[in-house]
Amino acid sequence: QNEKDSQFIVSNWAKDHYHKLLLNTDEGQGIGGSYLRQRGLNQTTIKTFELGYSLDQWDDLLKSATAAGFEQKYLEKTGLVIKREDDQGQDTGRRYDRFRGRVMFPIHNVSGRVIGFGARTLKPNDKTAKYLNSPESEIYHKSDVLYGLYQARQAIRTEELCYLVEGYLDVLSLHQGGIKNVVASSGTSLTDGQIRLIKRYTDNVTVLYDGDAAGIRASLRGIDMLLEGGLNVRVVLFPDGDDPDSYIRKVGDQRFKDHLEQASQDFIQFKTDLVSREAAQDPVKKAEAIREVLQSIGKVPDPIKRQVFLQQTSQAFSIDEQVLITEYNKLVRNAS
Ligand code: CTP
Ligand code: MN
Ligand code: MN
Ligand code: MN
Ligand code: MN
Repeated sequence: QNEKDSQFIVSNWAKDHYHKLLLNTDEGQGIGGSYLRQRGLNQTTIKTFELGYSLDQWDDLLKSATAAGFEQKYLEKTGLVIKREDDQGQDTGRRYDRFRGRVMFPIHNVSGRVIGFGARTLKPNDKTAKYLNSPESEIYHKSDVLYGLYQARQAIRTEELCYLVEGYLDVLSLHQGGIKNVVASSGTSLTDGQIRLIKRYTDNVTVLYDGDAAGIRASLRGIDMLLEGGLNVRVVLFPDGDDPDSYIRKVGDQRFKDHLEQASQDFIQFKTDLVSREAAQDPVKKAEAIREVLQSIGKVPDPIKRQVFLQQTSQAFSIDEQVLITEYNKLVRNAS
């Protein structure tokens, strides 16, 4: 048994421990369970995703794991337990649990092994972060993980489509609403590793990011990376202030699915609309907007698709196609 196996085993044990605390203790049911019910999540979802609850104590996990025979070393390596250091950075010998009084979201790899946790605070005015996550470890590489992929992978294959959302709750609510081909980037900007993971299952991605176009504007770079990966990318916007979870809770499963159908736009088309709206009639801004779109088109590996996008863009901006292609070629030459 090697170092990594020991970390997998203790992570799996911790997942079971948190899950049992949620289901079988008064504190778990009273605090964690009522929170999840209030968020609209049912028992099936809780079990499918093996959600849990960490007691609001300094050392419940440390004590229970030690009693179960786990070495402290692996609790520390997985970040479940933290070393308390003094002001000089010297080990005080004291240890405490990283996750306390939080709802626990175990993060599985594609083979279903637990590699880390996300944990949401239940205190409305918590001074610490809303979410705490496991630190990088030998088994947990944040940049290579998509939350929910283990539970979504079959559906992604059969639907030939992957919905990409930002958060844990978005994955859970959509899955519960019957949209099972959904994964979360967990708030970070997309990485090559995550894109490669998606490509193992499908070439089609629809991005369901939080809120308005401004929110997506911040994510344009990450979406360009999906194009670079050779994926077909579509985008769906939600009303300002909503994320997929809040929106499906508001309108219900069927209207949500209708919205996915009706509001889904090709990404290049979406970006064209966005930047041309921003540029309005200002010729300088318009030229800049066109270059921005051409930049994205340059990421598309398929020459035929590129050709189609160039045609569309020339129409959208009412720019002669030959002029556009000349500009495109210039841009691509300069970029390489
Ligand atoms: N996130 C994080 N740490 C934070 C804030 C966010 O890791 N301090 C990640 C989480 O994976 C979170 C995702 O970014 O799910 C999206 O963040 P946000 O939209 O703020 O949270 P929601 O998922 O919408 O959570 P909730 O609905 O509970 O507020
Ligand atoms: Mn890493
Ligand atoms: Mn957000
Ligand atoms: Mn949310
Ligand atoms: Mn959100």
